[in-house]
Amino acid sequence: MARHVIATVGEIAPGTCKIVAVAGREIGVFNVKNEFFALINRCPHEGAPLCIGPILGRFTADRPGEYRLERQGEMLRCPWHGWEFDIRTGQSWCHPESVKARTYQVEVVPGEVLAKGPFAAETVRLSVEQNYIVVEL
Ligand code: FES
Repeated sequence: MARHVIATVGEIAPGTCKIVAVAGREIGVFNVKNEFFALINRCPHEGAPLCIGPILGRFTADRPGEYRLERQGEMLRCPWHGWEFDIRTGQSWCHPESVKARTYQVEVVPGEVLAKGPFAAETVRLSVEQNYIVVEL
């Protein structure tokens, strides 16, 4: 599995997403409270660009009229038909057992690790094919 550098941490603010093209795929990389997650930018329902949908929370209720907003910033709503997905896992909220958006492993790597050497300049092979007369004055 190849690793691809897609952004600096500062490029994706908490609560936002950056859509990148990697190895022929569009992927949305989300910053959820300074944790990063990646989903394919394709809804498993009918193929909408999932990652341009609004980032939301989840409403729950124990009884009618008593709603709680939970997991703010952790759910993604598809822009076409409104199916909602858990950004952390890709699981759909309406069919969690059977419908899931493809997820990808994301890690934050210090720049000095990515740029770790040793670095070597390109060299060319040299040979001396004749002698020279050098005068010293
Ligand atoms: S294409 Fe995403 S919910 Fe229909």
